[in-house]
Amino acid sequence: MTTGRATSAPAGRGDAPADPPTAMDNATGKRLLALVRDGDYAHPGEEEANRLLFAGLSASPARRVLDAGCGAGGTAAWVQAQGLGAVTGVEVDPATARLARERHPEVTVVEGDLQAAGRVLAGPFDLIYAMTAIYAVGDQAAAFRELAMLAAPDAELRLLEYSAPEGDRAGAFCGGLGRGRWRPLRPRELPTTLAAAGWTSVRVCDLRPEFVLWYRRLNERIAARRAAIVRDFGAEWHAFVADEYAGMLEAIRAGGLGGILVRARRGGDLESAARGPA
Ligand SMILES: C[S@@+](CC[C@H](N)C(=O)[O-])C[C@H]1O[C@@H](n2cnc3c(N)ncnc32)[C@H](O)[C@@H]1O
Repeated sequence: MTTGRATSAPAGRGDAPADPPTAMDNATGKRLLALVRDGDYAHPGEEEANRLLFAGLSASPARRVLDAGCGAGGTAAWVQAQGLGAVTGVEVDPATARLARERHPEVTVVEGDLQAAGRVLAGPFDLIYAMTAIYAVGDQAAAFRELAMLAAPDAELRLLEYSAPEGDRAGAFCGGLGRGRWRPLRPRELPTTLAAAGWTSVRVCDLRPEFVLWYRRLNERIAARRAAIVRDFGAEWHAFVADEYAGMLEAIRAGGLGGILVRARRGGDLESAARGPA
């Protein structure tokens, strides 16, 4: 996680000092993306992706929902506004967690690491989701185990995540500036990883065509909104974000990075999931 260092660049909306333009996974990156995406989303596809992730769920305001890696809280607020449940978000970056609370006070936001989520959350949750967040977690098996421990019996897990469709071809992209900790999910390994963590009935659906479309659109918006980005964040941030997302579109088109939708159910042996790998 990039830490905030004050610079002379404009801070963007809000009074917090700007982070340097070296990565998107900080609070300044989130503010900039909100400007480009017309919502507090740090995921591709904005509300189209929300509709895909939550497809088929009936309204149930009492459903206990956990947003794993909630970022600036836009998805959590959207879920709640749709009547799909009462959402708690968990976010590891303190400045981003603060931003989520400021922007969406109607959502409960807890600062904490998914790899030790049980330390800050009690559960149980009926629905646990991650919108492009697990790819940024170092020990994904630990995160899935923690989430299983917080899940109600028969709870559902839904993920919309970056994937590594061509195995090691994701390596070059993920080694790029600011992406040292990227770990796109490997679809073929997921059922085994999830089963070991206490999740069953795993279904994985490829979203590469959607990711191509969404990133093409995002690049177009970054170009169209250059003046507003430069005004609020400075020219360096515009150059960084334009370069970053051009690179992502290229990687997705080349097959080095993809997107997937995953659904699973809580099941299996709680105790062995809690113990972790033998
Ligand atoms: C690409 S952003 C997506 C944010 C949000 N889900 C959305 O769609 O707007 C990924 C988020 O996951 C958070 N994150 C990364 N690793 C995490 C961890 N170990 N525990 C909790 N949050 C984490 C990051 O700080 C970041 O805010």
